[in-house]
Amino acid sequence: MQRLAIITSGGDAPGMNAAIRAIVLSCHSKHIECFGFYHGYNGLMDDEYQLLTPDMVRPITQYGGTILKSARCPQMHHDSGLEKAARTLRRHHIDALIVIGGDGSFRGMMALQSFWSGRLIGVPATIDNDLACTDSTIGFATAVTTATQAIDKIRDTANAFERVFIVEVMGRHSGHIAFNVGLATAAESILSFENCPTDNLKHVERELIEKIQTQQQNNHSSFVIVLAENLWPEGPQGLKTALFDAAKIESAVCVLGYIQRGGSPAPEDRILATELGIEAVSAAISESGVMIGKVNGTLTRSSIIRATEQNKPVDQALHSVYQQMAYF
Ligand code: F6P
Repeated sequence: MQRLAIITSGGDAPGMNAAIRAIVLSCHSKHIECFGFYHGYNGLMDDEYQLLTPDMVRPITQYGGTILKSARCPQMHHDSGLEKAARTLRRHHIDALIVIGGDGSFRGMMALQSFWSGRLIGVPATIDNDLACTDSTIGFATAVTTATQAIDKIRDTANAFERVFIVEVMGRHSGHIAFNVGLATAAESILSFENCPTDNLKHVERELIEKIQTQQQNNHSSFVIVLAENLWPEGPQGLKTALFDAAKIESAVCVLGYIQRGGSPAPEDRILATELGIEAVSAAISESGVMIGKVNGTLTRSSIIRATEQNKPVDQALHSVYQQMAYF
């Protein structure tokens, strides 16, 4: 292999820079030229790239975001866009493309397979941790740490004012962030897809009201609800209104939002990104259509189809820990 290209695609995740660095240094040691295309797949549409050298990536591990920029690319949903991306890769005689991103980015990669005969490798990076075939995705550990620190601060105010807080965390449609952060912050309630039937949220609401009222009768203290985004109709404001309308319970809302996606990566993410990046270059020499992961401490190469199509549920053990912590 002589030429490899990389892109970072979809939602940025802390640790993407560490993965870029690992790939570039690994290419350098193997005498492979490394092309960095900018703005995700858009860089392939617009032929916007730079040859990446070790000097360009040495001081970036500690930074969030991505030096290659990121974007979502609607053109990848159409044959014309896929053909355009393939043409760019052919024009530069690229042998392999490494995509650092989440499931949407990997779906684009699978679609590209029909238009380009080069090798395609995925490196899982998303704060949501919603990809199978890897215990953790790059960025997840940092997002959990950031959200935990934020809720610890909110808890001070919640305690001081003996207030109910509804804190919305990210995760798209999965509850990995919600459950991990909820447990780490000893949240009184975790509301996520995994433990709330979306067709019976009235029942969830009734149970929640009962829990808040029981706690308020027993002792005056704070009550933190960690709410997964996209779960409740009209989001945390909708839940706030529901609690007030049904039981006159006052609450404060805080949406953590994009602070969970930014910031200096946690050491776990830097290390994971470095390991996955190096392994991705090795895989790109002979394989295609695989995602690099780490399962039970071992680096793995799994079919990209399995990684995106298989569901990765929140660990059952976390559910049961949460159940056992409910003492009202
Ligand atoms: O996938 C990462 C993520 O931050 C999700 O948690 C969130 O739902 C989504 O991206 C937000 O996407 P956008 O950057 O397009 O607003």
